[in-house]
Amino acid sequence: MKLIRTALTNLPRDIAIQTQALLRNAYRDDPEPEYNYGPQLPDVVVLLLDGNFIAGHLAAYTRDVTIDTAPATIGLIGGVAVAETHRLQGHARAMVAEAHRYFVTRAIAFSVLFAASPAIYRSSGYRDMTNTTRFMDHDGTWKDLVYRDSMVAELANAHWPSRPLDLCGPTV
Ligand SMILES: CC(C)(COP(=O)(O)OP(=O)(O)OC[C@H]1O[C@@H](n2cnc3c(N)ncnc32)[C@H](O)[C@@H]1OP(=O)(O)O)[C@@H](O)C(=O)NCCC(=O)NCCS
Repeated sequence: MKLIRTALTNLPRDIAIQTQALLRNAYRDDPEPEYNYGPQLPDVVVLLLDGNFIAGHLAAYTRDVTIDTAPATIGLIGGVAVAETHRLQGHARAMVAEAHRYFVTRAIAFSVLFAASPAIYRSSGYRDMTNTTRFMDHDGTWKDLVYRDSMVAELANAHWPSRPLDLCGPTV
């Protein structure tokens, strides 16, 4: 089993096709034909390889935001998916840890995600995020609310402030 971290644009075509198949299966309730990374591509994707089989995927983004109007750069994690055959073996946790290592290389102190189930991420250091969050919704309108199941992890000694957060774009 191997974890790799790479830019999405560097993925060989066969790997990209397999990755989309994994994502389509993991997010099968999503009506879109292809997994939508959003208007801003992730900086890197983390892939879990079992031989030639793509068993896991995570997208790690960096985003310039404001916290209480002060500019900051945070990490965002999305697209966490593990093949059904490989679940409950700690692979999602390992991919999140790899994303955190990437954020630390970029001197990013906070990672934020929007969880389907918060229980998945607590052991990776995430806690509920209570900030009022401004973001662009799917229909293009801007919303200000405490986003249900949004979570934050502090990656350095910095303390995440519970102040209004402007994502300056959509969630991931
Ligand atoms: C969610 C998913 C990524 C978990 O992958 P995984 O490799 O099985 O997760 P791990 O084995 O690393 O487990 C990490 C933690 O999450 C918990 N967990 C795993 N699946 C869970 C689930 N469906 N609901 C709640 N908790 C879950 C584990 O018990 C573990 O908890 P612990 O660290 O406190 O012991 C995988 O089930 C999946 O791809 N699901 C479909 C897509 C999806 O829902 N992605 C998440 C979007 S936020």
